[in-house]
Amino acid sequence: MKTHQYLRATAALALSSLLLAGCEAPPPETVQLGYRGVGQEQVANPKTLAATVAENQVPAPQPAVPAGGPKAADVYENVQVLGDLSVGEFTRLMVAMTEWISPEEGCNYCHVDEGFQYDTKYTKRVARVMTVMTQAANVEWGAHVGGAGVTCYTCHRGKNIPANVWATDPGQPHAPGVMTAGQNIASVTAAYSSLPNDPLTPYLEGDEEEAKNLPWRVAGTTALPSGNRSSVKQTEWIYSLMMHFSDSLGVNCTHCHNTRAFYDWEQSSPARVTAWHGIRMVREMNNDYVNETADWLPDHRKGPMGDPLKVNCATCHQGAYKPLLGANMVQDYPNLSRYTVAVKAEPVEENAQEAAPMDDVENGDTLREQVEQVIEEEMTTSE
Ligand code: HEC
Ligand code: HEC
Ligand code: HEC
Ligand code: HEC
Repeated sequence: MKTHQYLRATAALALSSLLLAGCEAPPPETVQLGYRGVGQEQVANPKTLAATVAENQVPAPQPAVPAGGPKAADVYENVQVLGDLSVGEFTRLMVAMTEWISPEEGCNYCHVDEGFQYDTKYTKRVARVMTVMTQAANVEWGAHVGGAGVTCYTCHRGKNIPANVWATDPGQPHAPGVMTAGQNIASVTAAYSSLPNDPLTPYLEGDEEEAKNLPWRVAGTTALPSGNRSSVKQTEWIYSLMMHFSDSLGVNCTHCHNTRAFYDWEQSSPARVTAWHGIRMVREMNNDYVNETADWLPDHRKGPMGDPLKVNCATCHQGAYKPLLGANMVQDYPNLSRYTVAVKAEPVEENAQEAAPMDDVENGDTLREQVEQVIEEEMTTSE
């Protein structure tokens, strides 16, 4: 090798290693998630991991209060969802909510000087809906959140509005007749990929029946073509949603899939099943709770199409495979993992079975339905 060639080669080598070092320092770590040789592993940069750990510390719980004492429903004037708590527990939760939602503004972010009982501020009414939404997540969606549970802090982290929310995205203006199919817009939601820019409106909001017709299963399941009619365009929608999943949880596709067969549940990790339940939980949160607040939210709390700011995977996860890295916060606030409407005890009648007519829906109501009734009544009364 001639000297100048040698020099050129070393210079090129030095330059390329410099460039590479710029990409990925310190060297990434990998954790094996599936069988050996199938490439199911999680690749992470230790630097980003350290930052994730720092961002996911849980605040110290509010000091416990002595058990017993009168119920909030018996002492206060207008408690519609937390009436079943003792006054001590109620106050403790109010203090916690203030720390989680409005640490700077204090109690008056939701309340007015005239009295705590008034529903003057929309924020108080949103907080009431959010309380039931949080309880419902813990009571009904154990298949997703069981283990760690959810509190207001999971999403809010000391902010009035959680850091990651979304509203229907109209895309960018374009010349009439140009079909962009929501592409080449580099939206945050699709993790800046050139995929449809808003997969959330169809997949994480639409009603359960309509959602069944969306392109979910797109891959062929046989080696040779045998009638799979999914188009490339349809496929791009689910890929866009998948970019959102990976990005929100800070994981690779292999956290949930074996990439040799994306469709195959047998070869997927248990996390994919958790995610499947998560899709349904999020859709319920948006349809049954967040969208119910739409009528009385101020305009600055709505998206460009006039819909409320909604929940997606990043709202809770915020870049971690489990929100707050799996820390269980709700164990210190057990009143957020049960429904707490004070239901007045009915006098027990003898032969109650016979006394109650079969078509009396009131008797068949689940606690959840009673809670929803209360909220609905609340939401139709004006200030
Ligand atoms: C994030 C909103 C929010 C914050 C902040 C907040 N509250 Fe509340 N507060 C509510 C909601 C919602 C209710 C109604 C609960 C229900 O309907 O069961 C309520 C009800 C009350 C009531 C019952 C009033 C009555 O007579 O009906 C009291 C007392 C109260 N809060 C005190 C406080 C105090 C003290 C603070 C500050 C330490 C505080 N709240 C901070 C949302 C909030
Ligand atoms: C799953 C995520 C999630 C959880 C859990 C959650 N919130 Fe929210 N919160 C949101 C989203 C999304 C919005 C914006 C939508 C809206 O205003 O209806 C919001 C808005 C609010 C607002 C309105 C603030 C403003 O400035 O407009 C209040 C108040 C609030 N939440 C209180 C609570 C309380 C209290 C809890 C716990 C009992 C709670 N939230 C739990 C996601 C969440
Ligand atoms: C957090 C778990 C999770 C992650 C991460 C994830 N997926 Fe998925 N993926 C799912 C779930 C759940 C479904 C099934 C949805 C359904 O059919 O109800 C799915 C479905 C798919 C499908 C359709 C399979 C079929 O039957 O046709 C493809 C393709 C896919 N994912 C690709 C990807 C790619 C590419 C990535 C990385 C960018 C990725 N996924 C990341 C959970 C995940
Ligand atoms: C209301 C908050 C919340 C939302 C919204 C949410 N998750 Fe989760 N998720 C959790 C909690 C809490 C856990 C941890 C449960 C545990 O400790 O077992 C979890 C766990 C998971 C896991 C299991 C991780 C593992 O490695 O075991 C996956 C996968 C997951 N979520 C995917 C999703 C996807 C995909 C979405 C959006 C469709 C989503 N989550 C939305 C709260 C949420």
